[in-house]
Amino acid sequence: MSIPPLPVLQALKKSSSTMANRSTPFIYNEWYVAAFSEEVTRTLLPRILLDKRVVMFRTEDGKPVALSDRCAHRAYPLSLGALDGDTIVCGYHGFRFNCDGNCTEVPSSAKLPGNIGVASYPVVERGLLVWIWLGDPALADESRLPEQEWIGQDSWATSHGYFELKSNYVSMHENLLDLSHLSFLHAKTFGTPDYAKAAFKSEVGDGYFALYRDVVPTTLPPLWAKPTGLEGCETAARIVKSEFKSPAFHQVNVSFYDNKLAEKDRNVSRIKTAHILTPQTHSSCHYFIVHGRDFGLEDDSITQFMHENLFKAFNEDVTGMAALEEVWRTTAPDEMYEISVGADGPSVAMRRYIKRRADAEAQSRTGEVAIAREGAPADTEATA
Ligand code: FES
Ligand SMILES: [Fe+2]
Repeated sequence: MSIPPLPVLQALKKSSSTMANRSTPFIYNEWYVAAFSEEVTRTLLPRILLDKRVVMFRTEDGKPVALSDRCAHRAYPLSLGALDGDTIVCGYHGFRFNCDGNCTEVPSSAKLPGNIGVASYPVVERGLLVWIWLGDPALADESRLPEQEWIGQDSWATSHGYFELKSNYVSMHENLLDLSHLSFLHAKTFGTPDYAKAAFKSEVGDGYFALYRDVVPTTLPPLWAKPTGLEGCETAARIVKSEFKSPAFHQVNVSFYDNKLAEKDRNVSRIKTAHILTPQTHSSCHYFIVHGRDFGLEDDSITQFMHENLFKAFNEDVTGMAALEEVWRTTAPDEMYEISVGADGPSVAMRRYIKRRADAEAQSRTGEVAIAREGAPADTEATA
């Protein structure tokens, strides 16, 4: 086997260049998850999100706040300072910043220099998640949050966890959109040999991409067979829908039942997993996971069993994505190309969508609010 002939190679490279990858600019005008709710407390929480340094805390009356984690004075991390009520006191020279990012006191100056502050980012708390908007604040419309109604509902038992992914977020979205990798990357956990060969269909919408795969009949791996009561069943159905809902949010929905039973007699067990991706840098990503099931709601032993085993499986993605990132990192861009097959249809469309949006946003960006607000105006020094 040799590499493709030159004209084919050039065509592949051209086609690959229309798809987002690790060097594609970030899309800032989107809601991303900044943290699980429980992480945002009265202790200052630093986090790098889309290459921006952010510090988060909760006000005395419980509201989450996110500010730029870079003091307007000499760029010291505000997260190394202290909270005084709802004000952050910088740990270097003591400038104080309120929840809106406005500087309210400069200890060395009797008179407060005007118009200085740090960026304050819109945040919204929904169920287990704190969402942040790092783009144009005028566009931070809550109706643009991806649908996630099951998270926090009593009819779903959930568990959640986090990985720092040593990979760009685009690769992980693609991983999630084509689960044929279950038969290989997850051969020892929740994949089965028949998974990759199962019939699939895809859906490509405007910013929405889905892949459906029906694995029927199948024998479920213990991770699913045990909690669903389908151990030993050789006629199980595993009906999967993998959905890209936004650059920040991917959801996998699966139904399990015994396919030899008539539809009316089936006991259908459903699971949903939210795979929530927030770029940290272009080569790393916050990977928040919320897993839910609609059966055995009161049985904590199921929660524990599924959580432990699922997170072992998800760790295989973490390892795999780091290996993939390393290939991209060490390959010259003009040598990189990819060959796509039928099951990659939604992934290719999704990557083109991210690239189009990212490039358009990068072109229209004329200077970010955060940068515009940070730093004292020229006349400040005279008043200090
Ligand atoms: S760097 Fe924050 S007060 Fe000087
Ligand atoms: Fe995976």
